[in-house]
Amino acid sequence: MKIRAAVLEEFAKPLVVQEVDLDGPAPGEVLVRLGACGVCHTDMYTASGADPSGYAPTVLGHEGAGTVEAIGEGVTSLAPGDHVVTLFSPQCRQCVHCESDKTNICLSIREQQNLGYLPDGTTRLHRSDERVRHFMGTSTFAEATVMPEIALAKVSPEAPLDTIAALACGATTGIGAALYVAKVEPGSTVAVFGAGLVGLGAVAGAKLAGAERIICVDLDEGRLQQARHHGATDTLIGGPDAPVQIIEMTGGFGADYTFEATGNVKVMAQAVESARMGWGLCTIAGVAGKGETLDIIPRWLITGRRVAGASFGGAKGRDRVPELVDLYLDGKLDLDAFVTNRIALDEINDAFAAMDRHEGVRTVITQF
Ligand SMILES: NC(=O)c1ccc[n+]([C@@H]2O[C@H](COP(=O)([O-])OP(=O)(O)OC[C@H]3O[C@@H](n4cnc5c(N)ncnc54)[C@H](O)[C@@H]3O)[C@@H](O)[C@H]2O)c1
Ligand SMILES: [Zn+2]
Ligand SMILES: [Zn+2]
Repeated sequence: MKIRAAVLEEFAKPLVVQEVDLDGPAPGEVLVRLGACGVCHTDMYTASGADPSGYAPTVLGHEGAGTVEAIGEGVTSLAPGDHVVTLFSPQCRQCVHCESDKTNICLSIREQQNLGYLPDGTTRLHRSDERVRHFMGTSTFAEATVMPEIALAKVSPEAPLDTIAALACGATTGIGAALYVAKVEPGSTVAVFGAGLVGLGAVAGAKLAGAERIICVDLDEGRLQQARHHGATDTLIGGPDAPVQIIEMTGGFGADYTFEATGNVKVMAQAVESARMGWGLCTIAGVAGKGETLDIIPRWLITGRRVAGASFGGAKGRDRVPELVDLYLDGKLDLDAFVTNRIALDEINDAFAAMDRHEGVRTVITQF
């Protein structure tokens, strides 16, 4: 079939929305018609050429939600009409990592996915003879995509697709950092650095977990207002003295749980320093630039602080994303407030520009 898709033709150039060919699903694969797709920093980072593992031509996009249109041979967990959230982090339920509750990093299709291929080493995307690679195994800046069954979370059809698309990456990354990585305990004190979608997700997750005090740090007052909406009890304009202020605000000790969601290695160090001596746990969610390192004073660790990190909030996507959708439907998680702009696929380059200017929390493509 022919689909409209936003193709990265050349790094550091605008994406080109055009018709490409999409083959039907091979065994174990599923054809999904996208209803919505969020625009994430990782898409822009890859488009810029700064990511050394990037490739072109490829169809970008990884924060998708849609409806199953067709299934390949042997697919048993999904049927046409099902609503799904796309997972750049799959869950095969069979590999040694999927069988462990210590990690969400499924090993089954990693190598091919990192190269831009589906698990059998080929692509369903092409322009006549030219192969077009699949980005993050998802390629959701498109009317439709073909993905492995193990990379799709089946969710309640009652939830609007444009709202739950955020769970395909940013929102789950933050919420999961609080719920599945740090496992925030009721009554705790929490500090979250960064109030983009990931940091706001961590605030919402900490609130869900019953944290008593949630301090959110950002450079932007508007973002801090959003944080208060999602459950922050205190807010702070960021800067080098943020740790001192957080330690003061928490009786001289620091927060039981801290979260970093900026991608800035200096802020990562602040988040470690702001964790409570004795047992404070700092969870890093931000992605630093290539070659950057995190500078930690060893004394912070010897005096009992710990550091953790996770991709996709430690969430095993096929299990967790449907649960988060249900929490939204039960009114316990305000995903609607994360979506600040809705656009058409043709406006994708404007969305990147707006992201560069830090406008809004999440822009979601709703017209393809
Ligand atoms: N681990 C994962 O799987 C995963 C998934 C998605 C995104 N990420 C990463 O998470 C990070 C956050 O993503 P996002 O979409 O929320 O980004 P965002 O740019 O929307 O939000 C980052 C926020 O950090 C704030 N900030 C910048 N400098 C600060 C400072 N010195 N002190 C306090 N706040 C500061 C900014 O004002 C902004 O509001 C990025 O690094 C992104 O790449 C990781
Ligand atoms: Zn993302
Ligand atoms: Zn697995």
